[in-house]
Amino acid sequence: MKLSRFAFLLLAALLVAMTAGLVLADEDTPAKGDEAKAKFSEMTGKELYRNSCKVCHMPDSDNGEYTPMSLIMDQWEEFFDGEFTEAHKEVVHPQDKTKKVTDMFDKDMLKKIKKFCVDHAADSEEPMTCG
Ligand code: HEC
Repeated sequence: MKLSRFAFLLLAALLVAMTAGLVLADEDTPAKGDEAKAKFSEMTGKELYRNSCKVCHMPDSDNGEYTPMSLIMDQWEEFFDGEFTEAHKEVVHPQDKTKKVTDMFDKDMLKKIKKFCVDHAADSEEPMTCG
């Protein structure tokens, strides 16, 4: 009788320890995708452009050089309202050949990049390359 009670307590303690361990482990190692998303969500449009567009649109690039001041505001508006997906739908992700370029960006990221491009377009008040 005494022994089984001890065993029960031991089991209960073990369960609590395991649950705590799981919770802690979970906090320590967020899923990789989440981490990348969190990083992107903190980036500005300019950083996103430099990070994700410039790789393929450097000067001398076969895909054409594009910086915000390559186009006028209206052209960027149109581009992000549909042309972006159309122009890139066959283009493969630069790091992961199983994905498309369009998989790199979610709505929020595109919104920020669009704002950066429009704000610094050729006919804007502050035309800019992305440095
Ligand atoms: C993995 C490479 C890659 C990435 C990343 C990439 N592009 Fe492109 N982009 C291309 C290719 C390839 C084309 C098509 C070129 C062609 O049709 O000759 C293109 C075309 C374009 C065009 C011309 C579209 C047209 O209709 O003529 C613009 C503008 C453009 N990209 C802007 C961007 C912007 C802004 C980003 C970031 C949000 C971006 N690209 C990210 C490869 C890339």
